[in-house]
Amino acid sequence: MELVRVPKAELHLHVEGTLEPEMVFELARRNAVPLPWDSVAELRGRYQFTSLQSFLDLYYQCMTVLRTQEDFAQLAWAYYQRAAADGVAHAELFFDPQVHVRNGVPLAEVIAGLTEAASRAALELGITGGLIMCFLRDLGADAAAELLAAAEPYLGQLLGVGLDSAEVGHPPSEFIAVFARARELGLHVVAHAGEEGEPDYVWQALDLLHAERIDHGIRSVEDGTLLAALAARQIPLTLCPLSNVRLQAVDTLAAHPLPALLDAGVLVSVNSDDPAYFGGYLGANFAAVTAEFGLDDAQLLQLCRNSVTASFATAERKTELLALINEEAT
Ligand code: HPA
Ligand code: ZN
Repeated sequence: MELVRVPKAELHLHVEGTLEPEMVFELARRNAVPLPWDSVAELRGRYQFTSLQSFLDLYYQCMTVLRTQEDFAQLAWAYYQRAAADGVAHAELFFDPQVHVRNGVPLAEVIAGLTEAASRAALELGITGGLIMCFLRDLGADAAAELLAAAEPYLGQLLGVGLDSAEVGHPPSEFIAVFARARELGLHVVAHAGEEGEPDYVWQALDLLHAERIDHGIRSVEDGTLLAALAARQIPLTLCPLSNVRLQAVDTLAAHPLPALLDAGVLVSVNSDDPAYFGGYLGANFAAVTAEFGLDDAQLLQLCRNSVTASFATAERKTELLALINEEAT
């Protein structure tokens, strides 16, 4: 089976995490943003992470080069082209507006640039999907509420909201009100939980935030009751295997819980998180888990089906993509 031919959805992708070092330098030059590195090679040499926080520090620093609507459109369009090459037919992109607003970029420009690229991807590449606006959990609940209020004029351009950034010490329970408001506004809600945080953070995301999907959620395997609930309720987990290895959320890829989660009947999908930083896009993540765990075609097709099922695509689009996957299966 040729995996690139099988349509899949990418559900856990931070668009700012697709900012390749070459583009960091290109945009820095265009926008006259000073950089502390002398070369692309030197920047790439910094991509040695020991934890989520060690990555986030560099990730937020690189983001300072993103200044204009054009920059955001260029960034997202580069991602969509790479995604198309990996057989991505539907992509739901996370973005972190609080960082950009702090850097002096108006929210309207960020959303306009990303929307421009998404429309082009639909037209030229047939990729459906949308944008999921993330709250930075370490900035707290008031800042999240302020962002959501500021985003109200752009609700039509958003699929939903998410919760990302430094996890430990910033439990989902702090964000009950802002997530309730997002649901009231008709937005989908997802949350990063159980990446570095304890399984209780996953429970909180489910029970207190009513998250429709859990991003990462790998520490759920430590709690059998939680695992059973995720399987019974078919709550999707968006896994990012290369990310977990690079941020040392797992000791080795061999220790990744993907096979255990599949065996437990959890609706897991494979995603790339921040591919410019973690060693590869969606195809590379699939290749790594296929090689490590010896996944067969049936398991790979299941992962592709899961990604579509777990997406926020329309019922018609899901039916269309699932039929195309089944065609590849025969
Ligand atoms: N976890 C939390 N926040 C993030 C991540 C992640 O993997 N990537 C970008 N922001
Ligand atoms: Zn993530």
